[in-house]
Amino acid sequence: MAEIRVRSTNERISGEENVRAFLDKQEVLYEHWDASKLPAELHNKFVLSDEEKATILSTFDSEIRDLAARRGYQIWDVISLSDATPNIEELLKKFEQIHTHTEDEIRGIVSGRGIFIIKGDENTGYFDVELEPGDVISVPENKAHFFTLMDNREIIAVRLFIEKDGWIANNIEDPTFA
Ligand SMILES: [Fe+2]
Repeated sequence: MAEIRVRSTNERISGEENVRAFLDKQEVLYEHWDASKLPAELHNKFVLSDEEKATILSTFDSEIRDLAARRGYQIWDVISLSDATPNIEELLKKFEQIHTHTEDEIRGIVSGRGIFIIKGDENTGYFDVELEPGDVISVPENKAHFFTLMDNREIIAVRLFIEKDGWIANNIEDPTFA
């Protein structure tokens, strides 16, 4: 279950109802998949063959197709990041820049953990969404955000796209970020 931290006040929000209510108000889609469906041999495995990625997609096929039908996604894939990822430092540096894009950014977390840092409404400012397996989140189009890993630096997520180009990041400098 995701947890929220409001960066300006350090307030933490946990519990499904509270997290959902907070994210609803910030127009961030939040849903849940049953992560226990993941085949046992893929638990805590962060270096994946193409075949294993295909197994993950077929495991969550009905959930993916349901999201795609509701929200117009055309393509999907599996991303795996860990210290074994060859250019991980470079990738994280790239990820950790505040940006927007013209498509929403939707991720279904399959294993590991990660954080989206998202710019909320004026009263809220930036907040962290700490994600764990089963969490599905969509950062709306044109909303400032970035993504990073947590201390263990391991994540596997399903990504869905309307068009591949819609996800090109427009980096922004935001003096209100803290
Ligand atoms: Fe993004």
